[in-house]
Amino acid sequence: MNNCKLPKDFFFGTAMSGPQTEGAYNKDGRLPSIWDTWSDREINAFHNNVGSYVGNDFYNKYEEDIKILKGLNFDSYRTSIQWTRLLDKNGKLNPKGVEYYHKVIDFSLDNGIDVFINLHHFDLPQYLEDRGGWTNREIIEAYGNYARLAFKEFGAKVKHWFTFNEPIVVPMQMYSNGAWYPYERDYNKAMTVQYHITLAHCLAVREFNKLKKEGELPEVCDIGLINNFAPPYTKENPSKEDLEAVRMTDGVHNRWWLDVCSKGKLPFDVIDTLKELGISIDMREGDEALIACGKVDWLGFNYYQPARVQAPKEKIDEHGNPKFADEYVWQERKMNIYRGWEIYPRGIYDFAMKITKECPNLPFFISENGMGVEGEDKFKNSDGIIEDDYRIEFVKEHLEWVAKAIEDGADCRGYHYWAAIDNWSWANAFKNRYGFIGVDLANKYTRFSKKSATWIAEVSKTKVIK
Ligand code: NOJ
Repeated sequence: MNNCKLPKDFFFGTAMSGPQTEGAYNKDGRLPSIWDTWSDREINAFHNNVGSYVGNDFYNKYEEDIKILKGLNFDSYRTSIQWTRLLDKNGKLNPKGVEYYHKVIDFSLDNGIDVFINLHHFDLPQYLEDRGGWTNREIIEAYGNYARLAFKEFGAKVKHWFTFNEPIVVPMQMYSNGAWYPYERDYNKAMTVQYHITLAHCLAVREFNKLKKEGELPEVCDIGLINNFAPPYTKENPSKEDLEAVRMTDGVHNRWWLDVCSKGKLPFDVIDTLKELGISIDMREGDEALIACGKVDWLGFNYYQPARVQAPKEKIDEHGNPKFADEYVWQERKMNIYRGWEIYPRGIYDFAMKITKECPNLPFFISENGMGVEGEDKFKNSDGIIEDDYRIEFVKEHLEWVAKAIEDGADCRGYHYWAAIDNWSWANAFKNRYGFIGVDLANKYTRFSKKSATWIAEVSKTKVIK
């Protein structure tokens, strides 16, 4: 696939998030978030002991960064508002937080760059976590209040809104696989969290559409949800049990959100299987009607890796949780050894076509896709430039499959790379660098270009992938 062309109006940009970039964790009334608490309690849980406090210093450098995005010929970017910065403890607007986000949005728009706003990117005010966080049903109303205030405050300037980024990650990492604080391994709790996040999404969409109807939000505004959808694959000659592993992996991670977002329903085959396994989801009167409001205007598709699964050896794991699948190691797989993720560009096409088939008339965009590499200094040339040809190859191959999906009928509107400028990535902190632009932590977080920056600037300008 050489010299593919993307549509003229295809948009290009980057994704980022508030908690991973802003820093200034205790400035201007910002409240402590769950990431600050975890950093305070256990700094060595973070790569090189780099906690959540500084991000990549975007709070102080946003003007420079937005100009950098402009220099890459990007027309848009997505970030998230931090609940901890926008609101105070009583759920009222924090004037300093409001002022900051207005400044960022205004500066972007003045520079011809559109800002997409997401409301939740794995972060939460600590005071809400102390009341049970997403395990407590009360949080749905609190999130509804936060969303409503954000829509009203910035709705005149921000056209594209998203309720959640990767809503499967908090249930998985915090409550089911024990990777993130509070390190729980309780599948029941994880599904409760996933369900509450689902209801919160639906409530926010309902409020958004209501505000639009009442004329409080411009007609052109739209709302979506962003997920790390993973195309599911199994062995070449699968058994019935292998296919069942695919059904449930796909069901919990992909179809759950596709169905809510396109049909306003949960996938009932998945709910039935969960019930049979004793996983109780506390569905109450009125929930069905709320879920019916969860249909969105479009989707964000974050793509990093496929899900290769096979029938599990045991149906229950050592923590007493149900196991739907074991990993299937495909012999021909190519790995990103730093991140431990498979690189499979064709997966972006397969899932794009799945959206096209299963959610007809639902547009989407590639909301994240990127390659994180550890120790990039070793790729420096004699002029000190990091020659990240692996990143160019990664993006090029994925974009080629995106172009093919569009050719085959997928309504894919644009591409946001994760993340144009290196940023802090949760427990991995700054271990793997994703940027076309690097950040020198030892030198006041100075920005510098890698080889890929020139390449992507040309692609985003010409829409020709070469
Ligand atoms: C997806 C997440 O949205 C983002 O927060 C994270 O840093 C990247 N993946 C890279 O792991």
